[in-house]
Amino acid sequence: MAANNGFYYINRYKCDNNTVTINSILLLFIFMNAQLSFTDEVKTNTSVIYNKIKNTIPDIEWPFIAPYIHEINKLKKQTNTVILAHNYQTPQIFYGVADIVGDSLALAIEASKVKEDNIIMCGVHFMAETAKIMSPNKKVYLPNLKAGCSLAASITGQDIVNLKKKHPGVPVVSYVNTSADVKAETDVCCTSANAVKVVESLGVDKVLFLPDEYLAKYVASKTKVEIISWHGKCEVHEKFSEKEIAELRKNYPGLTIIAHPECPPEVIKASDFAGSTSHMVNYVKDKKPKNVFLVTECSMSDNIQIENPDVNFIKPCNICPHMKSISLSNILDCLQNKKNEILIDNNIIERARGSIEKMIAIGRQD
Ligand code: 13P
Ligand code: SF4
Repeated sequence: MAANNGFYYINRYKCDNNTVTINSILLLFIFMNAQLSFTDEVKTNTSVIYNKIKNTIPDIEWPFIAPYIHEINKLKKQTNTVILAHNYQTPQIFYGVADIVGDSLALAIEASKVKEDNIIMCGVHFMAETAKIMSPNKKVYLPNLKAGCSLAASITGQDIVNLKKKHPGVPVVSYVNTSADVKAETDVCCTSANAVKVVESLGVDKVLFLPDEYLAKYVASKTKVEIISWHGKCEVHEKFSEKEIAELRKNYPGLTIIAHPECPPEVIKASDFAGSTSHMVNYVKDKKPKNVFLVTECSMSDNIQIENPDVNFIKPCNICPHMKSISLSNILDCLQNKKNEILIDNNIIERARGSIEKMIAIGRQD
């Protein structure tokens, strides 16, 4: 009974009409096998959520989605659990069950402050590890332990050890999209919301900046500090091309284009603004562009559009398969069966925490 968000996104973005119909039928079949039912109580208790997200979900799917939302919200209270969700989660998770939402930096900060005994991270593995490192006495769960990240997979702790030998004395700045082992070998972490600020805070001429090659190039374009980079790439953002941006500009005159700094440099150059997912949220809220294209993961536009109904979002987006492997059914499974707990060696937690704490102390850049 997997309520797979993949179907949801395939329906809306990537397929022709026949595939859409087949996928919708498959989705309904999967939900119909579930034990949960759309009772009057469920309908009443989820009506506020439905009104908020109804434009992102076909009417026919709601009776199968609502019982999951209802059950998750009931169980998380009973089990003293808080649900954190990244901006790339689907509206049904982002608005339906999450207590705290945000970019990678916000999730790291919030994870260090939660009061509840249990944390469910609706995001990817490195985010759940970061939460565990910041709250080692809490139980942290990731609804799908296979939810990885191409950037985090591109580098190991041993790679950092080797790089430090090759560049003695050069501080290591690691993107938060890395494993706990990498963070344990890191001087200070950063996210795309503060990468330049973190690099400049060190007051040095040269840094090792890992693992995202494109983020490293973006930072290098904004600072005089010499950046030694690695060859990691985000499999979602590297797919956007300058040609795609040029075509969009031709088809939508006056279009505002906002790129994530994990995009290739030529895509960032062709855009009007570059920023983290939170920067994107704030840009749209403050500037209210008429037509906007967010050069990033698909759920960003859906989630921001709900709060900004007057803005028109152009959506040829790319899906992160790792983010989309989190679903209402595996969140419920986590809550019911205490499945998929994140466990990290205490020694690694101790060595990794300093690099995240330093990042949090530096804070966001404008
Ligand atoms: P931010 O939310 O920090 O911009 O991160 C984007 C990302 O790719 C997370 O996986
Ligand atoms: Fe990793 Fe890219 Fe997916 Fe973010 S969007 S989790 S950086 S693969």
